[in-house]
Amino acid sequence: MPKRILAYGRLSDDQLAELARDFEVDVFERLDSANDSAFRTALKGAHGLIGSSLAITSDLLDEAPELEVIASISVGYDNYPVDELTRRGILLCNTPDVLTETTADTGFALIMATARRVVELAEFVKRGDWQTSIGEAQFGSDVHGKTLGMIGFGRIGAAVARRGALGFGMKVRYSNASPKTELEKELGAERRELDELLAEADFVCVTVPLTPETHHLIGAREFGLMKRSACFVNIARGKVVDEAALIGALETGEIRAAGLDVFEQEPLSPESPLPHMANVVALPHIGSATHETRNAMAQRAVDNITRALKGQRPISPVNAEAWPTTQDE
Ligand code: DGY
Repeated sequence: MPKRILAYGRLSDDQLAELARDFEVDVFERLDSANDSAFRTALKGAHGLIGSSLAITSDLLDEAPELEVIASISVGYDNYPVDELTRRGILLCNTPDVLTETTADTGFALIMATARRVVELAEFVKRGDWQTSIGEAQFGSDVHGKTLGMIGFGRIGAAVARRGALGFGMKVRYSNASPKTELEKELGAERRELDELLAEADFVCVTVPLTPETHHLIGAREFGLMKRSACFVNIARGKVVDEAALIGALETGEIRAAGLDVFEQEPLSPESPLPHMANVVALPHIGSATHETRNAMAQRAVDNITRALKGQRPISPVNAEAWPTTQDE
């Protein structure tokens, strides 16, 4: 009997056909919640799950006694109970590397858009408000030569910093649990305590993963430490930032602008003032959303789940310790 996979993420026809060569595949299109009854029924016989964005809970895992592997089509895995998966011997895999450059492009687009007020001024033209030559009221601020403060200096953080340092002559400061000496040499980056970085940076860009330690890492106190001219960019996870405090800081001019790809609640609540604020550029979590990169992420997930279910070590396991030692290559 072939092993059974439930696919609830975007996979191309070729990728589905590839999986179907070795496995029985049930496709769940537009699965908005794990409470979908057909999905829950199918969980009983599932050996693998492939998809993204679904919050996986212990309850759900109780209904999937055969489950061996979850291949997430994402690099972030804050929606999975990793320790619980490990305890149950269920392998979780993610898709690092293939989305690094694309997500960094999104971060840099937000840096540029906030500094030069791209969206606000495009709207100004669209409304027909461009009646005379523009003046100081429409001026933005330079990006080149400024100080870029990276909160988190992993793969994506480093890729944003590389754009800033090598493309725009920016000074790079970073706060990170451990020093990154190679990047310091490559980019002239200097490590700072978080508070120092916040006070020094013209652009503050968040790229840390969401963990219990980083939940609301940036709140009212931290916005208070930033320059009033600072632009704040978040391409990590919405919950790393206390959104009410961010709204307050933008309203009172404690910081100048924010470029946001992620929010505490996604999709963003219609009640949120953020997309209506002139000094905010709000995007619908598009970090890795290009045709090329989403396809590469899906392919990585297909490769991970295929390898794991065939007893081979997957390319990017999150909890490699769940890998049965008897199967280790
Ligand atoms: C990720 O892969 O974690 C990105 O945020 C897209 O979800």
